[in-house]
Amino acid sequence: MEVLVVDPGARGHALARKISESSLVDRIFMAPGNTGTEEIAENTDISHVDLESQIDFVRKQKKIGMIVVAADDPLAMGVVDAFEEEFKDRDIKIWGPNQSASKIERSKAFSKQLMKSQGVDTADFTIAHTMQEAIRYADTQSFPLFIKMDQLFGGKGVSKAEDLFEVEDILCKYIGLGRFNRDNPVVIEQESPGVEISLQAFCDGEDYLMVPFAMKDHKTIYDGDKGPMTGGMGVIGPVPGLSTEDINRLGEKFVAPVLRELSRQGRPFRGMLYPGLRGSQCLEYNARPGDPEAQVWLSLMSSDLVEVMLASHECNLVDIKDSIKWRKAGACCLVLASRGYPEDPQKGAIIEGLASSLPADTHLLHAGTKKDEKNTIVDGGRVLNIVAVDDSVEEAINKAYQTSGLILFDGKQQRGDIGQCVTDSEFNKGIEQIKSSI
Ligand SMILES: Nc1ncnc2c1ncn2[C@@H]1O[C@H](COP(=O)(O)OP(=O)(O)O)[C@@H](O)[C@H]1O
Ligand SMILES: [Mg+2]
Repeated sequence: MEVLVVDPGARGHALARKISESSLVDRIFMAPGNTGTEEIAENTDISHVDLESQIDFVRKQKKIGMIVVAADDPLAMGVVDAFEEEFKDRDIKIWGPNQSASKIERSKAFSKQLMKSQGVDTADFTIAHTMQEAIRYADTQSFPLFIKMDQLFGGKGVSKAEDLFEVEDILCKYIGLGRFNRDNPVVIEQESPGVEISLQAFCDGEDYLMVPFAMKDHKTIYDGDKGPMTGGMGVIGPVPGLSTEDINRLGEKFVAPVLRELSRQGRPFRGMLYPGLRGSQCLEYNARPGDPEAQVWLSLMSSDLVEVMLASHECNLVDIKDSIKWRKAGACCLVLASRGYPEDPQKGAIIEGLASSLPADTHLLHAGTKKDEKNTIVDGGRVLNIVAVDDSVEEAINKAYQTSGLILFDGKQQRGDIGQCVTDSEFNKGIEQIKSSI
């Protein structure tokens, strides 16, 4: 079978890498692909958001049998619906939720209402369409409050307000951006106390299969969770302290009811559902594999990913659930970013060390790189990922940092504390709190 992967970054590279190991697959195309994927797949110059060109491409490549859509923008634009409509008469499996199911990520208001209606534990909230409604709610609440746009905004649609003045300031800014008006409400919610972890579940519309461990992302640019938010600077997994049974119980609490309700509403969710938890509450649902979470779970999956994707497309996860194997090991994905990221990433620095021999069970994934005549150079904010696997999470973390010493470029940024939470007593208390809530 031939496969098209729609995802521009390191997650796309990680997916292509795992898909290339499948005995069911003999050719992989990328939309658009990057310097890393050219070794295992065929890059195209088709952007991940250029639906028309993607459809044209699949029309010509008659042997494509599966399309994997992992990025949020094309899902929100309805790429899955467009493919399904266009290729009704061809046997193509499209992995990813359609536009109506992926609304759970795109619209915070929809997602919060869904959680509330299904009794999923989430912070108290209101949906405000006007400044007056917003202030009226905020005035009765304790601070801080979190104010969330009701659309995708490149991961920058959430602001924290410490008092009523800040609520007003933030909302004025959203109004200026055209992101808050009668047609575009905001969600205003209370703080969820506790530690943040990511769960991921393959879903086939009715049933689901949990990635059997939780992961911990590190979202800000600086150590100690300081500085502006990024797309994610590193992930470790499994988060120690949560057993497979705990994860299954979290699945019953945060995946099962939502999946059931989406199906009841006529939006069966097929693809990967990614609940973001903070303490015992759900912050949000994403409708795709996390980036960089996927880099970690893919490195720990022993079974054939394509078999699982096909089962989640054909609504028979139940048949393969018990046969999916995972490595009993720890993994760390360390993100190397460019100078100025996330505000103003600087491109053009030459990357050295890419040909170094890496420690065993370690690989590099490309995100923002490109080749000129002689060199590989920085071409984006998140530049490279180092993924290391070892017997324990701690060893994997050490190995990832050791590997980073081999890769050099001017302005290289990385966090120095990826996975330090594992030995932090506050973090472990937070995990205990999650355990005691299930
Ligand atoms: N209710 C909340 N309590 C505490 N922190 C929050 C809350 N809502 C959001 N955050 C913080 O803001 C980040 C982004 O919010 P999230 O709902 O995940 O939106 P998105 O990922 O779409 O930007 C979270 O990872 C978390 O750190
Ligand atoms: Mg989030």
